[in-house]
Amino acid sequence: MTWRASVLTLFPEMFPGPLGHSLAGKARERCLWSLEARDIREAATDRHRTVDDTPFGGGAGMVMRPDVVDAALDGVMDGRPALFLTPRGAPLTQADAHRLAAGPGVVLLCGRYEGVDQRVIEARGLTEISIGDYVLAGGELAAMVLLDACVRLLPGVMGAAESADEESFSHGLLEYPHYTRPADWNGRRVPEVLLSGHHAAVAAWRRAEAERITRERRPDLWATHERPAVAPARAGA
Ligand SMILES: C[S@@+](CC[C@H](N)C(=O)[O-])C[C@H]1O[C@@H](n2cnc3c(N)ncnc32)[C@H](O)[C@@H]1O
Repeated sequence: MTWRASVLTLFPEMFPGPLGHSLAGKARERCLWSLEARDIREAATDRHRTVDDTPFGGGAGMVMRPDVVDAALDGVMDGRPALFLTPRGAPLTQADAHRLAAGPGVVLLCGRYEGVDQRVIEARGLTEISIGDYVLAGGELAAMVLLDACVRLLPGVMGAAESADEESFSHGLLEYPHYTRPADWNGRRVPEVLLSGHHAAVAAWRRAEAERITRERRPDLWATHERPAVAPARAGA
């Protein structure tokens, strides 16, 4: 069955954007996934098609109205996971992408302005998710990031040449470095072991590099990474 993505946005014309190209674009042409971008403004009922209002309690900016967002969600929510992109959400992980890709698809709500009235997020049980600790002007790019991460994991999207098995985060580690021809580039040589043809040695080198890079760059990942238990030192050893 086709994996279905529905995106609620004030800027539907931004889609498919980058998702219309390369791996995701070809997969969409092959109907491995579908994308509909719905204009939240169409759910507005007044003459001016107003979607936002000033925040209660004062402060800068505008807030997207709960009644308009709720009406926009009508007819879209159908049991698929429904997510609101927000910097306040739980950080998106590769495990989330795997889990979402294994399901029927997603409904994504993109905020603009200061965000969305909290009541509709709660009433609709939306999961709040962030793509990182920085603030974007709107949820559209965040939605595209999430979709890109999911779509490439759908069955049949990546060929045998592109495997998700060894890449960063797949085993709780960042990936080892890659090298290709020429073996000597401007005096920089490829690590000898990669030219050895010795598969076990290559695998061991890659594993060690993945561990070193994770330890150096992401102590948070390293701390939770499950390592083979080290045998306790023998007394007197
Ligand atoms: C200008 S931001 C609002 C930021 C909000 N006032 C705050 O401080 O948390 C407008 C919209 O962009 C989206 N957005 C911004 N940064 C994001 C992030 N890191 N991850 C996911 N969505 C983000 C959200 O949909 C948000 O409602």
